[in-house]
Amino acid sequence: MEDENLERLISAKEANGDNTLDTTLRPQAITDYIGQDKVKESISITIEAAKGRNEPIEHVLLYGAPGLGKTTLAHLIAREMGANIRVTTGPAIEKSGDLAAILSNLEEGDILFIDEIHRLNKTIEEILYPAMEDYALDIIIGKGPGARTVRIDLPKFTIIGATTKVSLLSAPLRDRFGVHHHLNFYEPEDIQRIVERSAGILGVDIDRDSSIAIAQRARRTPRVANRLLKRVRDYCAVKGDGRLNDPVCRAAFDMMEVDELGLDHVDRRILETIIDKFGGGPVGLNTIAASTGEEMSTVEDVYEPYLMQLGFLDRSPRGRLVTRLAYEHLGRQKPGQDSLV
Ligand SMILES: Nc1ncnc2c1ncn2[C@@H]1O[C@H](COP(=O)(O)OP(=O)(O)O)[C@@H](O)[C@H]1O
Ligand SMILES: [Mg+2]
Repeated sequence: MEDENLERLISAKEANGDNTLDTTLRPQAITDYIGQDKVKESISITIEAAKGRNEPIEHVLLYGAPGLGKTTLAHLIAREMGANIRVTTGPAIEKSGDLAAILSNLEEGDILFIDEIHRLNKTIEEILYPAMEDYALDIIIGKGPGARTVRIDLPKFTIIGATTKVSLLSAPLRDRFGVHHHLNFYEPEDIQRIVERSAGILGVDIDRDSSIAIAQRARRTPRVANRLLKRVRDYCAVKGDGRLNDPVCRAAFDMMEVDELGLDHVDRRILETIIDKFGGGPVGLNTIAASTGEEMSTVEDVYEPYLMQLGFLDRSPRGRLVTRLAYEHLGRQKPGQDSLV
């Protein structure tokens, strides 16, 4: 459905077809990883120090919104360490036996990447504690009064955990990561460099104005930038001569209903609903979700973070509020404000 396509367009969450795009465009060397300079520098130091001691690096926790480069960074760390990387996710590990099997198959220096680590189930989490702290796996053999615990030694390995919701991680698990890194939304210039790099890889002929136009609308998120580039390229192949320039880009964004700040019709509907039905707020998240027809988690994970980043939405204990900036962007008058004209 066309509508669905539009809704997915600016979502930073992985969608169908992203997998190949993500893999094709994923930086293969730390020098291709654009922006996030502080995180990169600190990780390089951690890596150098570990190499100097001839040991695996400490366990690393990466957190930040979807599409900001957590998975990419985990692979780059493995590459820099010359280590094998095994990949799994919190929800994929259903039974304690699953985790025990993964852990006992690790080799010295391996990296175990656990994506969405906040979704690990609590009993499974407890197996991780001795594994992370003492490189040991406690296995219970037998049942009832005759049951006993056998401790198996594991090789020294590293866990890299990634999460979009660090607040959902239990304190004991969080504390077992020696290194924590928060990935922030990108600077617009960095997003523009990412667009240019991706255009180079995809063989897209793009001018500077177009890379700026795409970067402006990419919600400061690399995954969104890559997806917009791909959509604009497709539009241009059909409607233009294959070269990306400013008029073609604008026409493509008009068609996709993505405005110059990267807001799409769902963002606008959320803001307009709060304005028109709830006097600008405060209004609860579940009410917003119900009256816009979106899932609560989608509003919270996909739409809200960027609207708050723009300063269009405020959170208060009584709910969400639309700010004056948002009224201005939508060309609306905030009630109780004197007209300036
Ligand atoms: N710093 C970066 N420089 C260049 N491209 C990046 C960067 N971070 C992410 N990307 C691009 O964005 C895509 C999504 O990144 P990913 O690591 O999968 O995000 P996350 O795991 O945080 O959701 C990657 O495939 C890559 O092409
Ligand atoms: Mg990821």
